[in-house]
Amino acid sequence: MNDLFLRACRREPVERVPVWFMRQAGRALPEYRAIREKAEMFEIIRTPELAAEVTLQPVRRLGVDAAILFSDIVAPLEATGVGVELREGIGPVIDRPFRGADDLARLRPPDAGDFGHVIETIRILRRELDVPLIGFAGAPFTLASYLVEGGPTRTYARTKALMYREPETWAALLDRLADVSLASLRAQVDAGAAAVQLFDSWAGVLAPADYERAVLPASRKVLTGLADTRVPRIHFGVGTGELLRLMAGAGADVVGVDWRVPLDRARERVGDGVAVQGNLDPAACLAPWDVVAGAARDVLQRNAGRPGHVFNLGHGVLPETNPDTLARLVELVHEEGRGGG
Ligand code: CP3
Repeated sequence: MNDLFLRACRREPVERVPVWFMRQAGRALPEYRAIREKAEMFEIIRTPELAAEVTLQPVRRLGVDAAILFSDIVAPLEATGVGVELREGIGPVIDRPFRGADDLARLRPPDAGDFGHVIETIRILRRELDVPLIGFAGAPFTLASYLVEGGPTRTYARTKALMYREPETWAALLDRLADVSLASLRAQVDAGAAAVQLFDSWAGVLAPADYERAVLPASRKVLTGLADTRVPRIHFGVGTGELLRLMAGAGADVVGVDWRVPLDRARERVGDGVAVQGNLDPAACLAPWDVVAGAARDVLQRNAGRPGHVFNLGHGVLPETNPDTLARLVELVHEEGRGGG
């Protein structure tokens, strides 16, 4: 078993820096598109053989040091009885958006039976994988944003309005969503996921004081709720430069950093006690190879060989990325990345 990724998460010295990519499974890969022509996204997620196959595709093609379960951050919402649809090119769309206190009663707590397909997928993957499997879930705030808006948004106005206007309903909603994230992550770890990533993708739209007061307690509930499992916990969001210190303090072992904050600066913000993951701009991968290589070397140089670096993009792989570029990037990180070993 290649355990470089797990060792880097624990800030142990590694011979070479491990690398994987957020959204490595998906539309950048022709073999994924071939499967998607025959099955909808949620059909793939609910069919263990297909979900396992799609999880394995980038491991085979790219040679990454970790696999990430094929699912979606909104998938656990279905377990609460919320109708979710993943619309091509748009994202998750919610049947009946959450509008106020009365809607709390509609969110039923998930039970173990809700994650049967995930458990079976992970069982298959444990036989097939020689790299660690990362389980994941949406963080309470990011899940709330989809629930309240009903779909993707640019302003998060409805979500923030609820947070400011009805703080008690908001706190109750986030607490329920923390239970959903936690139940999903626990099921994944119990089935064999070796690490977890909590995606608070959209937390960067919040001011630090609002994040700390109205969001952090729910994320902390999820992350500290997994402490006894001893698996590394990665906490990630986009545009979170001003939140990195708080996100690290929420119970994370690793903080995911987007491309807006240079990795050395991110290190200063999160302190020595946590590892960092990131942070090449995904759009750089659309440039000619020497530009990609230069940008990747800059990330490695800013980490300066310190232990506790997992190389990744600063956000998910863009669909138009050439998979050959990603494969070359893995080779470059493997050849040039030194992690204190
Ligand atoms: O490879 C992997 O990383 C594992 C699978 C994965 C998916 N979504 C599959 C997917 C993961 C980890 C996610 C996380 C996810 N989903 C996030 C957090 C990461 C981030 O981008 O910040 C978010 C916000 C979502 C919500 C979501 N799902 C959006 C906004 C979209 C539409 C945009 C897009 O990228 O297509 C989806 C759909 C989705 N999730 C697809 C895939 C492969 C595309 C569906 C298709 O095949 O058409």
